[in-house]
Amino acid sequence: MSETLKVLETRRSCRAYKPELIEEEKLQAIIKAGTYAASGMGRQSPIIIAVTNREMRDKLSAMNARIMGQGEGHDPFYGAPELLIVLANKDVPTYIYDGSLVMGNLMNAAADLGVDSCWIHRAKEEFESEEGKEILKNLGIEGNYEGIGHLILGYAAAPLRAAAPRKDDYVYYIQ
Ligand SMILES: Cc1cc2nc3c(=O)[nH]c(=O)nc-3n(C[C@H](O)[C@H](O)[C@H](O)COP(=O)(O)O)c2cc1C
Repeated sequence: MSETLKVLETRRSCRAYKPELIEEEKLQAIIKAGTYAASGMGRQSPIIIAVTNREMRDKLSAMNARIMGQGEGHDPFYGAPELLIVLANKDVPTYIYDGSLVMGNLMNAAADLGVDSCWIHRAKEEFESEEGKEILKNLGIEGNYEGIGHLILGYAAAPLRAAAPRKDDYVYYIQ
């Protein structure tokens, strides 16, 4: 099997992390893979925000937990030291697909480099909040952006779970 196919099949979500940041070169390579995702009409509607700042990481985790209805102390980022946030421009009709594909590229690139990751939801609600809008404003990000997802990154602190079996009726053929 090709290395690429092996990565696509063996990547798994990680839900327990060591505190260390990943290497900067790996982070940059993962981000670059995200920016090369296909997008509807090549309009590149998504943007990526890389968060390695501990204070901001903790703030986002707390916002995410609140959206989940969880209280103080719950960390939806499972201890991951850093994350990438993908948002996409709602003015582009394919923005959700574009942003989701960036997420896919990011997580598969991470797996290829031996970096563990997990897609964490609720970025939409996060960046619809006043706090979220303020974060974008402070970064000078203007425009009609919707949060697509967070990809938490780091190194696993515990073995990853095996993949669930693929459902029997996943694929249909017309021959
Ligand atoms: C759109 C989307 C949202 C997800 N949100 C979360 C989440 O909020 N928290 C979480 O622990 N995992 C989340 N996941 C990860 C899935 O639970 C995970 O991909 C699934 O269980 C399959 O496991 P695997 O990634 O190891 O193949 C999300 C995945 C996707 C695609």
